[in-house]
Formats: sequence, structure tokens, C-alpha cells
Amino acid sequence: MSEVLAPVDTRRVAAEASRRRTFAIISHPDAGKTTLTEKLLLYGGAVQQAGAVHGKAGRRAVTSDWMQLERERGISVTSTVMRFQHDDIAFNLLDTPGHRDFSEDTLRVLAAADAAVMLLDAAKGVEPQTLRLFEVARSRGIPLVTFVNKYDRPGMEPLEMLDHIEQVLELEPAAVTWPVGIPGDFRGVVDRRDGTFHRYSRSVGGATRAGEQVLDAEAALQAEGDAWTTAQEELELLEGAGHALDGSELLNGRRTPVFFGSAVSNFGVGLLLSALERLAPAPAPRPTIDERERPLDSDFSGIVFKVQANMDPRHRDRLAFVRVCSGRFERGMRATNARTGKPFALAHTADVFGQDRETLDEAFPGDVIGVVNASDLRVGDTLYSGDPVEYPPIPTLAPEFFMKVRNRQATKHKQFHRGLAQLAEEGVVHLLRRGEGPDPTPVLGAVGPLQFEVTVDRLQREFGVEVALDPTNWKVARRTDAAGAEVLRADRHADVLIGGDGVPLALFTSEFLLERFAREHPEVMLDKLLRS
Ligand code: G4P
Repeated sequence: MSEVLAPVDTRRVAAEASRRRTFAIISHPDAGKTTLTEKLLLYGGAVQQAGAVHGKAGRRAVTSDWMQLERERGISVTSTVMRFQHDDIAFNLLDTPGHRDFSEDTLRVLAAADAAVMLLDAAKGVEPQTLRLFEVARSRGIPLVTFVNKYDRPGMEPLEMLDHIEQVLELEPAAVTWPVGIPGDFRGVVDRRDGTFHRYSRSVGGATRAGEQVLDAEAALQAEGDAWTTAQEELELLEGAGHALDGSELLNGRRTPVFFGSAVSNFGVGLLLSALERLAPAPAPRPTIDERERPLDSDFSGIVFKVQANMDPRHRDRLAFVRVCSGRFERGMRATNARTGKPFALAHTADVFGQDRETLDEAFPGDVIGVVNASDLRVGDTLYSGDPVEYPPIPTLAPEFFMKVRNRQATKHKQFHRGLAQLAEEGVVHLLRRGEGPDPTPVLGAVGPLQFEVTVDRLQREFGVEVALDPTNWKVARRTDAAGAEVLRADRHADVLIGGDGVPLALFTSEFLLERFAREHPEVMLDKLLRS
């Protein structure tokens, strides 16, 4: 089959890539991610009124109503992509689920992001889920911009907050804005780059974009008196002892610019957006599996970072999210799937905004396209046109919870295996088998127990299969290889199961036994990260 490719308009691709910013927000539940997302969309003109994205009733992603939300496919649960423009910059905001049990999902989303906003609650600082996601972001070398939220309420003093960030995350905070007034009696922020005062005024419910009053130093002193003087004294202290902001330090992941604000009243959101424009990196060439780089302006290539079936009851199908890594995507183009070597027609592609879909005709590096009815695509697949390329697989976390799954309806044998295979391909759960071929009682592996609930629920609703889960004694798993599997099978404290793509997994009933085995067999590969 010979295919004539249209020549790539390299200049256009480079220009479009340079005005893309693709980022995610990482935070602990309740820090204000939903609120900040709404406000960013409001500032980006993507919604006219905050609240349009999340109906109030379906907003909260707490554990108790998670299943309900999952049913409704609320966007704070299943990751989707939001696109908006600001000052000629095209933003792609990749949503991440807030709950710890879905950290694997976040890992996949971060594989598609070029930067992340770390959102902290002014009173709580770095919380457990922030820390977990931060570690994932750091392991991927993702630059972080920090937003300290809820400054309208009592919380940590700003100097204390910077100290806290540095201690807990070993990350150097460089304040770009500085609060005037104490937390709870917040007057606004000084923009340290030009010394101007951005005065805070409560907008009613923050529903529309608030006009920000910008004053020079003299007017600020007149307006705020002691609060302004205190802020200036703190800034002098910071000049001597704090970290200066330097773009290269941000990119190497050692330093983070810090912004203070109050998302609920829109305050500081505009400054954060312009910081993302200037500080967050535009897409860069991605390293390939053979450790080269595919230039941005070469032919189209992209990586599948998420597959979601039955995402919206109105469209019962399977949607693959592809992050464009190079070239120009054009609807209807043919690509090759590097894993299978098979051609793939990108005929049905969508721009996914929350639950709505619009047909997408073209896209550039940094953009995310939704490929509709993508039954042949899996997480980690590379699609390309022109010169072949393959990007490294996306790492996934080794499961920490294990359950045997049993089909309760003998007549639904086929649906049982098909459903499990699909959910495993989507990355909802790890499917582990005893050997080659279908296993009547396979083992499910998960990073958090909620993944089991989703699996059981979806098997029943989407495949009509009732299953039962039985506990196992395994507590820890590691990726190994064929040689390692042989040694492990001979050890009476270890077990070997086969995971996705035939990769053998070593299982142990305790960390202690794993560590002892690793000491006794240093030659055996035991890797914490899996691949997808
Ligand atoms: P999440 O997605 O990170 O879980 O957080 P979400 O945005 O849902 O915000 C959690 C709560 O914090 C909400 O209050 C929200 O209004 C509040 N919040 C967000 N940003 C700010 C802020 O800057 N200042 C203050 N004071 N509160 C903020 P809620 O009472 O749980 O819900 P609601 O009734 O206000 O909607």
C-alpha cells in the first residue's frame, strides 16, 4: 500500500506548537481543583459563567458518592480534556481524578502533560494525595507551578507556607506574588516582578470574571497602610533569603514559582494564567524508544494515554485519548499503530470538552484528540504517519491489592472474559492469570480498593456479568522477566502470575518476604514500575 503524504508545513507546525500549553492540576480533594478549573475556563472564555461545567449537585468527588459520579461520568472523576484560549495561547487542561485509588489514571494523564499546577489549601499545605501526585510528577520531570488557594480564609503565614513546601517536598519555592494582609483578612497580592498591588475585591460568588484593581506602590500604601508595610518588610526578608525565579530551574524540576490567591472569588486566577503562558513550557520533542527525538515539525505522531469505554451513555463506544507529539493531525488521515504495525484510519476524531464532543479537524503538538471507536488502541500505543516512530511505554504502578474474581453465571463465560480483558486494557484494573490462555479465576490487582468496586460495577452494567471477589494473601507485586520467573517459581514464599502483555509478576505475602528474596537473589529483576 503506498500512500502519498501531504508535505508538512513545518513553519506552521512549529508556530502552533509554540503557542500550546498542556498541563494538569494536582491536588488533594477539597483544595479547590474543581473551582480553579472552572475559573480558568471562565478566564479562558471557554464558559460564560462559572458553574457551567459542574452542576453543583454532581461536583464533589468524595469517596461516598464516587460510584454515583462514575455513573454520571462526571468530569472530575474520569479524566477529560478542556481546551481554552487566552492571549493567543491555546491551553489544554488535562483533568485528573482526585482520589488516591485512581493514582494510576493520574500517572497516565501526567504522561501527556508538559507541566502541572500544584494546588495547595492555604490552611493545610501539602496533603497526602498532593504528596503522592507530586512524587509521580517529579519522577516524570514535570515542571510545577504552585497556587496557594483559599487565602481569603485563615491559614498559614506566607513565609511559613514557603518553608513548609521546601521542607516537605524538597522543592525550592520562588514566590512570584506575595499576599498583603493576613490569611482571613486578605487584601490582595504584590506582583514581585513589577511591584504593583493587585487589590482583592470579593466578587459575588465569583461567577463572572472579576475586574482586578491594579495600584502602584504609593496608592497601595495609601489604601492598605500597615498591611502594605508588613508585606514590604516580608519581601525584603525574602529578597535576602528566598529563591529567585529562574526559568531553567523550573524546567529542571528543582524550583517552583508560587502564587497566592482565592479561586472561589477568582482572585489570582488571571495572574496564574499569565504565568502559565510565560513560564510553563511549550511542547518539546519527545524521546523515542530508541532514545532519539522526533522533531515537533516532522510527520504526525501521538501517544495513547487513556482509553475509556462507554464514557457517555449517549455515545456507547470506546474513546482513546491521543496526545499529539509531532506534526499536524488532520481528520481522516491514516496512521500506523507502532505496536501492531497495522494501519489505522483516524476518521472519527473528537475534541473532548467535558462530556461534549465536537468533531476535530486538525490538531498540533500538545493537543489531545479523542479517537472514537478505537477498539484496536491501547494505553501506551504510538500512532504515526511517515517515518516510523515508537515512544516509550507509560509506566504504571505495581498493584498493592489483590482479589480473585469468580464468574457467578456459568452461561456468561464469554462476557466475563471479554469484560475483564477490556477493563484491563483501559487500565481500570490489572488482570493477572495463572498461565497462558483464559484463567477461570483470574486475579485482579489494584493500587486502591475502589478500583475493584468500579470493576464489579462496570462488569455488571456494561457486560451483564455478576462476579464475586475472594480475598488473597498477596500484599506486594513486582515486575520480573522470564529468567526471574523461573527462580521465583522455585521459591516457596513467592508466586508468579502473568500480567498484561504476558509480563510475569512476582507476588509476595509481605514486604519482608520480598526484601528477603531480593537480598538472596540480587540477580532477579524486581521492578516496582510496570508498563502499559
Ligand atoms: P476539589 O475539586 O479540589 O475537591 O475542591 P472544590 O473545588 O470542590 O472545592 C472544595 C470546597 O472549597 C468548596 O466548598 C469550594 O467552594 C471551596 N473553595 C474553593 N476555593 C476556595 C477559596 O479560594 N476560598 C474558599 N474560602 N473556599 C474555596 P464547599 O463548601 O465544599 O462547596 P460549595 O458549597 O462552596 O460549592
